Amino acid sequence: MSSCVINSTRASADASLEARIRHDFPILQRPTSNGKRLVYLDSAATAQKPNVVIDRLVRYYREENANIHRGVYDLAERATEAFEGARATLARFINAERSAEIIWTRNTTEAINLVAACWGRHNLKAGDGILLSQLEHHSNLVPWQILAQQTGAELRFIPVTSDGRHELEQLDRLLDGTKIVALTQVSNTFGTITPLDQIVPRAKAAGALVLIDGAQSLPHMAVDVQALGVDFFTASAHKMCGPTGIGFLWGRYALLEAMPPYMSGGDMIANVTYTSATYNELPWKFEAGTSNIADAIAFGCAIEYLEQIGMDWIVAHEQRLTRYALDRLFALEPRGLRVIGPANMHARTGVISFIFADIHPHDLASLLSSDGVCIRAGHHCTMPLMHHLGLSATARLSLYLYNGEDDIDALIDSLEKAARIFKLA
Ligand code: ALA
Repeated sequence: MSSCVINSTRASADASLEARIRHDFPILQRPTSNGKRLVYLDSAATAQKPNVVIDRLVRYYREENANIHRGVYDLAERATEAFEGARATLARFINAERSAEIIWTRNTTEAINLVAACWGRHNLKAGDGILLSQLEHHSNLVPWQILAQQTGAELRFIPVTSDGRHELEQLDRLLDGTKIVALTQVSNTFGTITPLDQIVPRAKAAGALVLIDGAQSLPHMAVDVQALGVDFFTASAHKMCGPTGIGFLWGRYALLEAMPPYMSGGDMIANVTYTSATYNELPWKFEAGTSNIADAIAFGCAIEYLEQIGMDWIVAHEQRLTRYALDRLFALEPRGLRVIGPANMHARTGVISFIFADIHPHDLASLLSSDGVCIRAGHHCTMPLMHHLGLSATARLSLYLYNGEDDIDALIDSLEKAARIFKLA
């Protein structure tokens, strides 16, 4: 049973739900340091936290704190139950076959590193292909670069167009000899939704495993790992209203079972002598040392919060806002604003990159900040993608369930002010 106390009214399609959701997030009720309304448009970097998640963390530390899987006293048993309960909640949320397929990690990055180290080093040899796309975040690139250096495997890339869409003409050639395909489901830079339905069946037919970086998708859409037909799926709690420092790897049971441990130490063992050890069963084989107990429990609560709002409501809300934001940004095109990313609403989410005439994105973000508007500027941890498209940086807004049209209006007002300051036509 849930240990998360959620007071919000069950989601319905009415407009007042938007106001009720915003009310759930205490930081959105506070003015910025210069007295402005906080207009938070950087949820792709990290999402804000609702009261229920914050309260769950505090309640754990105030009332339930004990180490898990060790003590036989009541407090420890309750902590273990809440911790494993959160794992079960996540397993249900992504439709994993069993909870034991969920490995807690610090974040998506650690989960990808785990697969590269524990599966990759033992299964790849010189000449084997590792297929990525040109859209990948450094987290889904650098671990594979290191693996390629260690094994002699070859990195290959699905090319992307100047508007951030995948070009699949050469896919069969790229899949020939590929042993693992690792792709983001949603681009953190352009919001592009990867056409997994066109890629995964062909990758499986070619005998490759498929890993999905779900850091930018799981917070924003329903994900069913079995229906996706992939082998590994990773995501981070902090981008989906949960705490920082907790994420996960989902993997097919047989694959995880065949992989050696990642870190070693307490909790991941079955039996230890002075000279050797046997390992615990899944999922604990991959969870050495005291886990991030409180954050895993609060992550479970964040999932229940999103479920209560309804992922279908979140998708519809973000699509409506994305359409509104794009229309308002397109209206600034005559003054030099350029949106970079897919124009087709079915191919994108509410992560929107743009440049505004010759204003450096960092200058733009600082200017917007003085109006309480928070966006990200820079290479968004996708430096090769920026080079590929001849860009040094973009400004990026990203939407979530607590945003409304008023946030977009505030952004546009601030951009218009920037245009006046920089004397754009
Ligand atoms: N990966 C996060 C972002 O895109 C931090 O902002």
